Amino acid sequence: MEGQPIAGTTKICGIIGDPIEHTMSPVMHNAAFRHLGLDCVYLPFRVGKEAVGRAIEGVKALNIRGLNVTIPHKTAVIPYLDELDPMAERMGAVNTIVNDNGILTGYNTDAAGFLRALQENKIEPRGANIVVLGAGGASRGISFLLAENGADLTILNRSRERAEDLASQVSTATKTDVKALVLDEENLSLALEGANVLVNTTRVGMVPDVNQTPVPSGRLRPDMAVFDIVYNPVKTRLLADAEAVGAQTIGGLEMLVWQGALAFTLWTGQAAPVDLMRKVALKALGHED
Ligand code: ATR
Repeated sequence: MEGQPIAGTTKICGIIGDPIEHTMSPVMHNAAFRHLGLDCVYLPFRVGKEAVGRAIEGVKALNIRGLNVTIPHKTAVIPYLDELDPMAERMGAVNTIVNDNGILTGYNTDAAGFLRALQENKIEPRGANIVVLGAGGASRGISFLLAENGADLTILNRSRERAEDLASQVSTATKTDVKALVLDEENLSLALEGANVLVNTTRVGMVPDVNQTPVPSGRLRPDMAVFDIVYNPVKTRLLADAEAVGAQTIGGLEMLVWQGALAFTLWTGQAAPVDLMRKVALKALGHED
């Protein structure tokens, strides 16, 4: 579709991060703007650590409508914002900023996008036994939201300390009993025995290490759903193994698309064309459908 030409009235959104070259967000959002005929454009900005404060001041100075924030700035932007959504505050991370007449509010649609992708695939966290691999930045939001939504959570991580720290923070904040284990074969086997859902938040299996998997295929079962938040490759080794045993699988692209869709709605007030966003992201990742 043709879409609006850029004009004096065009509203600007964008993404800051470093590096920024591999982001899928401009492709998804610009396609969505064009599709809905919105007078908006979405641009990538490479912003180094030293320039985060000035970049956020620039959002106000240039009257930019909204930003996504990606690695490594999701925590660093917080002191420069005027308001924080409670979820972003609890997670200590912002991936979406909305500029309302000079008032900047920070949101986090990453974990909410994960939850939405899960629910779109008919999986409800309440009462589910969920094993989360990884205790880094990505795991943090996801683990909080899963526990908050009633999941029975076990976090496995390569470094024990990080697993225990995150589990204790999530336990305290959500008043649930989150278990923490070192990510090794024995613990994996133990944790996965009664698991309904397995979530990989580690980078294992991401390009270029596409033959790696955090879970030996023998531990996967057909009655388990497997969500890998890695989206490049679109079908990770873990997802391929899970598919091969007949398990339900959800790829990281779904989380990417839904976090984008939720940000899109915060900026425009409109429902995002999710199928289109998925299609263009897939194409940008080298998948013609
Ligand atoms: P992100 O924002 O992607 O979560 P991060 O905060 O650097 O990034 O966290 C990366 C996660 O992947 C961590 O859980 C890390 O485990 P450690 O805490 O032990 O470092 C995990 N990870 C990265 N490479 C891994 C590997 N080869 N095997 C197992 N876990 C790995």
